[in-house]
Amino acid sequence: MTIWHQRWTANQIGFHREVVNDVLEKYWASIEPNPKGSVLVPLCGKSIDMHWLVEQGHEVIGVELVQKAVDAFFNDANLTPSIEHLDGFTRYTSGKNTILQGDVFALSPSLATCQAWYDRAALVALPSSIRPAYVEQIHALCDPGSVGLMITFAYPQEQMQGPPFSLPNEEVEDLFGDSFIVELLEQIPLEDEKDRGLTNVHSSVYKITKI
Ligand SMILES: C[S@@+](CC[C@H](N)C(=O)[O-])C[C@H]1O[C@@H](n2cnc3c(N)ncnc32)[C@H](O)[C@@H]1O
Repeated sequence: MTIWHQRWTANQIGFHREVVNDVLEKYWASIEPNPKGSVLVPLCGKSIDMHWLVEQGHEVIGVELVQKAVDAFFNDANLTPSIEHLDGFTRYTSGKNTILQGDVFALSPSLATCQAWYDRAALVALPSSIRPAYVEQIHALCDPGSVGLMITFAYPQEQMQGPPFSLPNEEVEDLFGDSFIVELLEQIPLEDEKDRGLTNVHSSVYKITKI
């Protein structure tokens, strides 16, 4: 059982938000996604941001490892998805909402090809050693010209084990720099999280374009 299965089983999902992310609402139109494009949401959990993206007219393809999260996403919205088993994944579809249940690192473009992506609490959920493989997957699953909106979280890594793992701006440049155009849209200082022992916390918002 992975740490994520344990967290979902124990309902330790403090990352989940009951309201649409305000950064998504503020910046999505400004990154100029193809209005008819499909949006990849890696490590989607049961994020209601996916409903907001559908309301903007997109097909949305979430990818989530844990079955309980996928069930909760559709149950919470009173949706009954159709279910297919494909290539090691289970595909849940209802209208323009799709979630592929499985490991994002095993996903091939034959199951998901996108023109945009949205990353909130995804890359920061992964330790640094795994992040290059995540970026390779985004590259493989998104068409050239695809735009991504990514929200990071950074703090002095020695203050906490993670997840979330700190993602400093320099690491974003190192990870995406070669095959993407990286634009920092905003850096947001956050309140110190004294309960978690965190100081100097900030979040950065990026537009990332696949070349
Ligand atoms: C920190 S949560 C963020 C969820 C969502 N993005 C949100 O904003 O609420 C990370 C999610 O990624 C899922 N996850 C972790 N590793 C994964 C993998 N290899 N493939 C697919 N999903 C994964 C976890 O089960 C968890 O639901």
